[in-house]
Amino acid sequence: MKLILLLATVIAATQGLSVEEHWAAFKENYGKTYTSYEHEKRRFDIFQENLLLIQQHNSRYEKGETAYYMGITKFSDITDEEFNAMFSKIPKTKNGKINILQTSTTSAPLPDSVDWKAAGVLPPVVDQGDCLAGYAFSSADAFSALLFIKHNESVQLSAQELIDCTREYGNGGCRGGEAFASFLYVEEKGLRTASAYPFTGKNDACNATAASTESAVKMAEYERIISLDTAVQYYLATRGPVNADIYANPLIRHYKGGIYDDAERCPNEISLLNHGVLIVGYGTTNGTDYWFVKNSWGTKWGEEGYFKLKRSICGITMNGHVANIA
Ligand SMILES: *[C@@H]1O[C@H](CO)[C@@H](O)[C@H](O)[C@H]1NC(C)=O
Ligand SMILES: *[C@@H]1O[C@H](CO)[C@@H](O)[C@H](O)[C@H]1NC(C)=O
Ligand SMILES: *[C@@H]1O[C@H](CO)[C@@H](O)[C@H](O)[C@H]1NC(C)=O
Repeated sequence: MKLILLLATVIAATQGLSVEEHWAAFKENYGKTYTSYEHEKRRFDIFQENLLLIQQHNSRYEKGETAYYMGITKFSDITDEEFNAMFSKIPKTKNGKINILQTSTTSAPLPDSVDWKAAGVLPPVVDQGDCLAGYAFSSADAFSALLFIKHNESVQLSAQELIDCTREYGNGGCRGGEAFASFLYVEEKGLRTASAYPFTGKNDACNATAASTESAVKMAEYERIISLDTAVQYYLATRGPVNADIYANPLIRHYKGGIYDDAERCPNEISLLNHGVLIVGYGTTNGTDYWFVKNSWGTKWGEEGYFKLKRSICGITMNGHVANIA
């Protein structure tokens, strides 16, 4: 109890709000309800620990010791262990045609920065909720962006169709998957719009009845990009967003802005990859090269649902895929 009071005092002094006020705002903001007093008490205790971590991190940010800052997010009432358990390992998918980008195509001079969000080609950020379908949102969004870039069509494509219909290609529905298996599906069946096949947040039966006639997009080709930053840059500069996997580590859940740069806690390790995202640009701030990335954790997380990630960490370019459409 003494410790809790001490924490409360520290946080209140630095934020101007009491822990109880932060907790009330958190519950309101994220629509959190708890089934019993004991349940809420436990969640409140975890919340206080996370809040202290956020405060301590942000004072390091203010001293210039780290390039990103933290804030309260929808993940603020769970522990590191619970967060890790949510993100299961991405299932292994079937092998398909793999083209490794020829280095000659990367010799052209590339712009210093690319930003497909600012270009207005991306659909809104969605909150995947308990459905671990980052691979499906990032794949559907990549095709939406290509439709805009190539055909000036603004349409959100269906992640739920990929969640429901790519299981036979090796994906795990709401338990994770890969962009590559989604591409194999789109190559065969196309992909409908999100309004024709809306997100339900759970594993439903695949509704493939009208897939070929109603699909909004036709796949032309796809390539796998392995650990080659210049190739990712090349595709971002010349084609559109690039699908990627990252290690969604327990610290990045608190990310609120800046450049996530914790290489030690988020190593470039292919075996840790557990979450599909969409790289939508790159740039340099204060000498730090970063990727600009679209996530599927809702708009209240990060920078309106997006984040900047320092290059060569969290495995971001270790399993890249890029599609093209007809
Ligand atoms: C793209 O579409 C918008 C609205 O649908 C239209 O106003 C605009 O002229 C189009 N641009 C091009 C280059 O066709
Ligand atoms: C399957 O999709 C078709 C066309 O998009 C729709 O009319 C039908 O209601 C869907 N079926 C189910 C079971 O959702
Ligand atoms: C760049 O660094 C300066 C000096 O450390 C800092 O004041 C500024 O906020 C930084 N800019 C960004 C965008 O982080």
